Amino acid sequence: MAMATSAAATAALSCLLRAGKRSCLPSARWGCLSSARLSSGVSSYGQRGSGARSLRGNYRELWERAAREPGPFWGALAREALLWDTPHHTDCEWDFAQGRVRWFLGGRLNVAVNCLDQHAQCSPDRVALIWEKDEPGTEERITYRELLEMTCRLANTLKKNGIKKGDRVALYMPVSPLAVAAMLACARIGAVHTVVFAGFSGESLAGRINDSECKAVITCNQGLRGGRVIELKKTVDEAVESCPSVKCVFVAQRTSNKIHLGSRDIPLEEEMAKEASVCAPEIMDSEDMLFMLYTSGSTGKPKGIVHTQAGYLLYSAFTHKHVFDYKQDDVFGCVADIGWITGHSYVVYGPLCNGGTTVLFESTPIYPDPGRYWETVQRLRINQFYCAPTALRLLLKYGDEYVKKYDRSSLTTLGSVGEPINHEAWQWFYDVVGEGRCTLVDTWWQTETGGICIAPRPSEKGAEIVPAIAMRPFYGITPVLMDENGKMIDGNDVSGALCIAKPWPGIARTIYGDHQRFIEAYFKAYPGYYFTGDGAHRTEEGYYQITGRMDDVLNISGHRLGTAEIEDVMDEHPAVPETAVIGYPHEIKGEAAFAFIVVRDDTPYPEMVTKEVRAIVASKIAKYAVPDHVLVVKRLPKTRSGKIMRRLLRRIVTGNVSDLGDITTLDDPSVITEIIDTYENYKAKNSTLK
Ligand code: WT7
Repeated sequence: MAMATSAAATAALSCLLRAGKRSCLPSARWGCLSSARLSSGVSSYGQRGSGARSLRGNYRELWERAAREPGPFWGALAREALLWDTPHHTDCEWDFAQGRVRWFLGGRLNVAVNCLDQHAQCSPDRVALIWEKDEPGTEERITYRELLEMTCRLANTLKKNGIKKGDRVALYMPVSPLAVAAMLACARIGAVHTVVFAGFSGESLAGRINDSECKAVITCNQGLRGGRVIELKKTVDEAVESCPSVKCVFVAQRTSNKIHLGSRDIPLEEEMAKEASVCAPEIMDSEDMLFMLYTSGSTGKPKGIVHTQAGYLLYSAFTHKHVFDYKQDDVFGCVADIGWITGHSYVVYGPLCNGGTTVLFESTPIYPDPGRYWETVQRLRINQFYCAPTALRLLLKYGDEYVKKYDRSSLTTLGSVGEPINHEAWQWFYDVVGEGRCTLVDTWWQTETGGICIAPRPSEKGAEIVPAIAMRPFYGITPVLMDENGKMIDGNDVSGALCIAKPWPGIARTIYGDHQRFIEAYFKAYPGYYFTGDGAHRTEEGYYQITGRMDDVLNISGHRLGTAEIEDVMDEHPAVPETAVIGYPHEIKGEAAFAFIVVRDDTPYPEMVTKEVRAIVASKIAKYAVPDHVLVVKRLPKTRSGKIMRRLLRRIVTGNVSDLGDITTLDDPSVITEIIDTYENYKAKNSTLK
């Protein structure tokens, strides 16, 4: 077995190390530093290779060097840190006006080889994945050798069924080793994966499959989450009925429940068992597509954000190492689902490229009880723990006992991501979970940025961390704040629209099939800059604090959702001519959706309609998208040109009616008292609205 696999690894590598090319396995590369502890301080990183030399200096010096000349900074790192078939000849080409960014041009490599083969060759028995299954107390460990084998068998299965380089493959799976192998199998053969979070409805799944014209879907018979069964295959069946591009559906068995397989369906494990455990990697250009991931924007249609090979891989691996101070043999615990970008960058690609051990958390924070995270930390001896503020807000309500009863002495770094973290949650995480001795990093980034852009680390050991803010730009990240007139705001203690001035390797390259939309969404508002969609404050000390979205995008429990997306599906109800959705602060979710709907006069039971529109949102988008409140109103506030003034609705719900701002453009001001009355009536009957 060991022989066969090491032969497999060698075959794959020798394919990369073609005659005449420089050796691609220098002894001093990240993943293969067999025993050397990768140092945490940035300065001592610098003994290896040319790229490593470029990391000499303190945080400030490195940041300035990278910001001044991002090309050479990242170019040297890419050469040193990644395993190339052909090294690149040009570091970076960019033109923000055209939304065009290219990194490491001329370079050729394979991402799966970087994430697997090199580690399987150096340390085949090192654990790559620890699968923390939904069933409490059960875990499975997968070594690099095993993951490489699984990936190759899966890659061969895809190939046998006609999946080729450039084809798109949708994944609708629970967090599991097979899901990771499926992502890497696509990367190995040059196919493009698009992971769809397994909580999305059949209709959402179908929309994504059709937009990207996927040739295949990989799923499981069922999923398990918090002890409940999720009918994944059923949802896929519903979805693919309207997806003509799908030729086959690979079905893995997560539970023992037997399901009927139709003509298009292929039993995944059975087929994998028949395939060889080696698979020659497809050599890809740096700028070939690696994956796409759909995320919400301010229109009703989700955007397929495209990431490419080398730049994304380098950025996710490098930030993983330096923001979390990841050292070899550490156990990295990011509890995000692989259906989101956090799962892509910090469960799969970053940690695996670094030869790390990464936890796959399949369950929920409160199953079987609110001690689940901390019991897992104790049992798996997790060193870095990365989660969302919404989970912390939920858990702190259950009290400290659930935390304190478990041993958390393995923890060194804690991280939070997805939404602004409030002070109470930050302090609880730091004091109670981390016992006041762990570094806590609030990390700001986006699906579009590929990896962390603003976080308290890297910075010198012991450098101050201000609670509950993201603070410092990562190397090569050049944040700027803009005012309403599109002018850059200088100085400190100022707020504005958060933009980034120069490219970094992890930035998204386009929106699949719609580059114009990419330009409009990110490069039009502030010409020459990447606009994040977020607002930020630069403190007196010059640190960044993210204040939240500036567009019509909600952040519900750390998940992005466009108000237009919810409105569009509610509008499909025949008795509902118009709707307006707004976000309001929510104790646990951070933000929640409140929907105002107008119901046709001749509707006999408007109350029924509120239930029906909720059901529509669940079935057309996802359960988490269902508004917490649906209120029937006679009219919506509109400008004379017919634009809905959501700002007024937001003020009514957040209790700011004394300050409605400029209402001179409002068509009929009497609508305001009308809505306030309806709202107050509703609130009086609804205890969840304070
Ligand atoms: C949006 C991106 C990045 C992975 C998860 C979400 C908000 C994210 C923070 C933070 C304040 C944050 C922003 C951003 N956000 N992290 N640390 N502090 N806000 O990815 O779904 O692409 O959402 O999440 O508003 O734009 P996403």
